[in-house]
Amino acid sequence: MSKYILIIGACGQIGTELTYTLREKFGSENVIASDIREGNDDLMQSGPFEILDATNYDALEEVIAYYDISEVYLMAAMLSATAEKFPMRAWNLNMNTLFNVLNLAKEKKITKIFWPSSIAVFGPNTPKDNTPQNTIMEPSTVYGISKQSGERWCEYYFKKFGVDVRSIRYPGLISWKTMPGGGTTDYAVEIYHKALTQGTYTCFLEEDTKLPMMFMDDAIRATLQIMETPENEIKERSSYNLGAMSFTPKEIAASIQAIIPDFTIDYAPDFRQQIANSWPSSIDDSNAQKDWNWKAEFDLEKTTKTMLENLKNRV
Ligand SMILES: NC(=O)c1ccc[n+]([C@@H]2O[C@H](COP(=O)([O-])OP(=O)(O)OC[C@H]3O[C@@H](n4cnc5c(N)ncnc54)[C@H](O)[C@@H]3O)[C@@H](O)[C@H]2O)c1
Repeated sequence: MSKYILIIGACGQIGTELTYTLREKFGSENVIASDIREGNDDLMQSGPFEILDATNYDALEEVIAYYDISEVYLMAAMLSATAEKFPMRAWNLNMNTLFNVLNLAKEKKITKIFWPSSIAVFGPNTPKDNTPQNTIMEPSTVYGISKQSGERWCEYYFKKFGVDVRSIRYPGLISWKTMPGGGTTDYAVEIYHKALTQGTYTCFLEEDTKLPMMFMDDAIRATLQIMETPENEIKERSSYNLGAMSFTPKEIAASIQAIIPDFTIDYAPDFRQQIANSWPSSIDDSNAQKDWNWKAEFDLEKTTKTMLENLKNRV
C-alpha cells in the first residue's frame, strides 16, 4: 500500500531538496509539495503541488483528506533574522502551523510528523562548545523562543496523545539548489555565490564567529533517517542535537581561497552578529549517533568543493 506524504513549505531552502529526495524514494505522485507561494519550475513540475497556507487549519485538513496523507513534513517557518524584524508574525506563523499539524495527528488524521527545530533554541547562557543535548537553553531571539516552545509542545503531544512527531535541531544549512530564507547563517551560502560572480564578499558576521553548520545532503539524509527509525527507538521527543562541522567566516574564506586564490573577504557586522553571539559554536550529537546511527559525511573542504563545482554552472 502506498503512503502519501505532504511537504509544507516545499519551495524553501530545505523543502525544495526534501521534495526531490522524497519523490525519488517514494514516487513523484506520492509526495505532495505545498507552499503559500509558487516555487521554481523544476519543483512545480516534478509532481503534485498545492498552494496552501498552513496557518489555515481547514485548508490543511482538506488537502490531507483529498490526498489521503499519512505523513507531514512541516518546513514552513519564519527564520531567525527575519523574525527579529516581524516578531508577532514569526510567532504566529511558527506556532500556528505547528499546532495545526499536531492537532491533525491528535485527531488521527495523520500518523507521523517531521518538524524541524534549530540550534537557535540555545542562548547566551548555554555552554558554547560541544553543547549537550540537555542543558541550559534560554533562547534570546524570537525565532529561538518559538523553536523552544515548539519542542516543548511536540514532547507534550507525544506524551499526552501519543503523537509520533520527530525533530532535529538543524545547524546552519549550506546548499546550492535554493537560496536561504532569512537566517543568521545565510552568509555561508552567499559567500560561494559572490566568490564566483564577484571574487569578493562582505560578510555580515565578524571573522571569528564560529557556528555549527551542515551541508544540505547531510541534513536531508538525517531527516529521512530519523523518519525511518522504528518509533520505540526515538528517545528524544523534543528534538535531537545534530552536528557536522563548525567554522568561522575566516575559515570558510580560506577554504574558498584554496580553490580561488584571488578571492577576498571583508567584514561589516550587522544586527545578525548579536544573534550569532547567542548561539553555540559546536554541538554534541551523541544521542542522534546512538539512537539512529547519525554520522555526517560533509566537512568544510568537501562542502566548499561541492558548492563551487555546482554553482559554477549556474551563476
Ligand atoms: N535553513 C537553515 O539553515 C535552517 C536551520 C535550522 C532550522 N531550519 C528550519 O527548517 C525549516 C525550513 O527552513 P528553510 O531554510 O527551508 O526555510 P525557507 O524560509 O527557505 O522556507 C520556508 C518556506 O515556507 C513557506 N511558507 C511561509 N509561510 C507559509 C505558510 N503560512 N504556509 C505554507 N508555507 C509557508 C515559504 O514560502 C518558504 O518557501 C524551518 O522550520 C526552519 O526554521 C532551517
